[in-house]
Amino acid sequence: GMTTNHRIALIPGDGIGAEVLPPARQVLDVLGRRHGFSLSYTSYDDWSCERYLREGAMMPADGIDQLRDKDAILLGAVGYPGVPDHVSLWGLLIPIRRSFRQYVNLRPIRVFEGIDSPVRGARPGEVDFVVVRENMEGEYSEVGGRLNRGFPDEIAVQEAVFTRAGVTRVLDYAFALASRRGGRLTSATKSNGIVHTMPFWDQLVTERAASFPQVAWDQEHIDALAAKFVLEPARFDVVVASNLFGDILSDLAAAVAGSIGIAPAANLNPERDFPSMFEPVHGSAPDIAGQGIANPLGAIWSAALMLDHLGHPAAARDITDAIASVLAKTDTRTRDLGGTATTAEFTDKLIELL
Ligand code: NAI
Ligand code: MG
Repeated sequence: GMTTNHRIALIPGDGIGAEVLPPARQVLDVLGRRHGFSLSYTSYDDWSCERYLREGAMMPADGIDQLRDKDAILLGAVGYPGVPDHVSLWGLLIPIRRSFRQYVNLRPIRVFEGIDSPVRGARPGEVDFVVVRENMEGEYSEVGGRLNRGFPDEIAVQEAVFTRAGVTRVLDYAFALASRRGGRLTSATKSNGIVHTMPFWDQLVTERAASFPQVAWDQEHIDALAAKFVLEPARFDVVVASNLFGDILSDLAAAVAGSIGIAPAANLNPERDFPSMFEPVHGSAPDIAGQGIANPLGAIWSAALMLDHLGHPAAARDITDAIASVLAKTDTRTRDLGGTATTAEFTDKLIELL
């Protein structure tokens, strides 16, 4: 029959971003052949901090429009010394997330066999959960400003913006995900300290929970929840959180899982009105960039999330199985995991197991 083709935008970005995307693409092409789909790529190699320094913008003025007709976006990492992080982030990543209404940031966490977690209680096979982070509003709003710059009465104000529509849609996504997974959901809150937005968040959680009676849910204040991520990481299934809380929790969870180099993320527009974006959690790692030693697993696992979104769950599972195998059955590892393999050697070993 006809082969489904998916149009993929590749944005390597900065630093090791350009080193981890080619391995992801190698893996994708193997799976396309096996599972009967094809991928066509458009690369945006110079959307980067280098471009910003040369031309004053991270991407061209019509950059968002160039991506609009793609089925998905695979991104490496954005940010490099010499360009302030808020400039690079708000010049590329955030415009993509917001223009394409990617209101769900999904971050799966697993402790794989063969990985030493810094947390003693985080045993392989037991820790397997997902952080669902609100990705478009909340604490990361553009509402606010600065007055009296440079004077003693200088002031900065930043408003947190929580909308009924914005909170409800991410909660619905998280509850539905929990009902497909282990049937448990934890909501991150801080309604004892943040007295307007967080009680509103809690109220909407209670409202939406009524539509998902099959999901057992609870809520935890963010400070206590952070402690529990370290002390009892195996108790979680789906954790839903606001933009800021979810950002912090998911990095913490990635560290609990053993390495930031493995963790993946999806920025989803669940309605599929626009392309969704898939990216490793890690940044551009300037300290190791250019050496060919970056861990490609975060990018490869992100590619698995992309295949899942594009309707190829079996192919996605092949990838996570191969990641589990390479870690459990071989001692080939990149340096961040205590090994000596290069990015290319680690990728070859994984593809062998695939
Ligand atoms: P980072 O994630 O780039 O690096 C933190 C540490 O982890 C470094 O020691 C690095 O060598 C190591 N590391 C990260 N990924 C690795 C991999 N795949 N393999 C082996 N080791 C790895 O975070 P950092 O240093 O805070 O940020 C560097 C730049 O990246 C900044 O400009 C920052 O804004 C940007 N960044 C971008 C992100 C994105 O594009 N989504 C996310 C986080 C940071
Ligand atoms: Mg973060």
